[in-house]
Amino acid sequence: MTRKLKVAVVGLGIGRNHILNGYRTNTERFEVAALCDLDTDLLHSCGKEFGVERLEKDYLEIVGMDDIDVIDVCTPPGTHRKMILAALHAGKYVICEKPLVGALAEIDELLDAESRSSGRVMPIMQYRYNDGAQKARHIINAGLAGKPLVATCEVHWLRDETYYEKDWRKSWSGALGGVLMNHAIHANDLMFYLLGPVRSLFARTATRVNKIEVEDCASISVELECGALATTSATLGSVEPLSRMRLCFENVTIETDSRPDFTAADAPWRFVAANDAIGRKIDAALADFTPPPSGFAGQMQDFHKAVCEKTPLPLTLGDARQSLDFATAAYWSAKTYSAVALPILPDHPFYNGWQNAF
Ligand SMILES: NC(=O)c1ccc[n+]([C@@H]2O[C@H](COP(=O)([O-])OP(=O)(O)OC[C@H]3O[C@@H](n4cnc5c(N)ncnc54)[C@H](O)[C@@H]3O)[C@@H](O)[C@H]2O)c1
Repeated sequence: MTRKLKVAVVGLGIGRNHILNGYRTNTERFEVAALCDLDTDLLHSCGKEFGVERLEKDYLEIVGMDDIDVIDVCTPPGTHRKMILAALHAGKYVICEKPLVGALAEIDELLDAESRSSGRVMPIMQYRYNDGAQKARHIINAGLAGKPLVATCEVHWLRDETYYEKDWRKSWSGALGGVLMNHAIHANDLMFYLLGPVRSLFARTATRVNKIEVEDCASISVELECGALATTSATLGSVEPLSRMRLCFENVTIETDSRPDFTAADAPWRFVAANDAIGRKIDAALADFTPPPSGFAGQMQDFHKAVCEKTPLPLTLGDARQSLDFATAAYWSAKTYSAVALPILPDHPFYNGWQNAF
């Protein structure tokens, strides 16, 4: 049965963008019925901007609102775990920004809580809803790309001291990680989305751009289960910000060179076929394919459909676990100067987190 879901948005930084680009683009599917933020001025200005009357500073008041179906958690990473657990306990659906939590043990705790709740959790990974990424996946799933060979992925962004005026972004306790957990997480997730799970990796991380606790440069060499090899490079010190990804398959090279990032409306994705015959098949496959709306709009639309039809959510705790497995392995590799095989198991020294190890 299709119905309008009532949403409460908690945290009005990127949360404001969720409203603008995810809910206002889906007004037949969602009503933003309550807002929550610790910052009174921001709370009131957003209430006025979006015509929302129920404004709360206390998250638990939101959790206690019987008519709210979905709590959209957009607060700093260090606050997510408790908020998700409280929402699941109250039987709410949860949408939560990345990174979800800071340890595999915590994801497993959430999986357990979800299994006992009538609610479910969807992590935000809106880059998957980029038009080009959707087309790439369509070509790959149609069997047209052939054997995956190598991939490179660059997340070269620019963040100066003004970005770190929000203190949480500097610290392990607030941000749970640096460029790996908070910025390259999208591109790495896109790599899993297009190439499948990771078998092993070797990572180096460093803090070289700003005076912060967490890493702001990373380089990772990755072996995928499909046999392809990938390299990811991430920094927050690129004078010209860009996100670039190149995937070489036997039959097609898929490339995006998006400035500043993959969400740019005009982000160009190219599909270069090995020959005319393959090119014609790719063109035909894409001619019949309509990607969902880009970014938050597409992810929220699919979320609504899944809730109404009681089907699996478009992104799940399993997807967030995959990202965290990758990050845990990367931090362990960086710490110990060793190659690491995935998955990370519960007896691993970083299963409970790595934030005190650096
Ligand atoms: N998906 C994306 O592209 C994307 C982009 C930016 C940020 N993010 C993620 O979104 C989250 C928030 O990032 P941001 O940049 O919007 O941060 P921000 O600091 O700009 O905004 C967070 C807001 O949460 C509020 N807040 C903090 N603790 C709270 C609490 N206990 N109860 C209620 N409100 C509280 C703050 O007052 C602030 O207004 C982070 O997890 C970040 O990694 C995702």
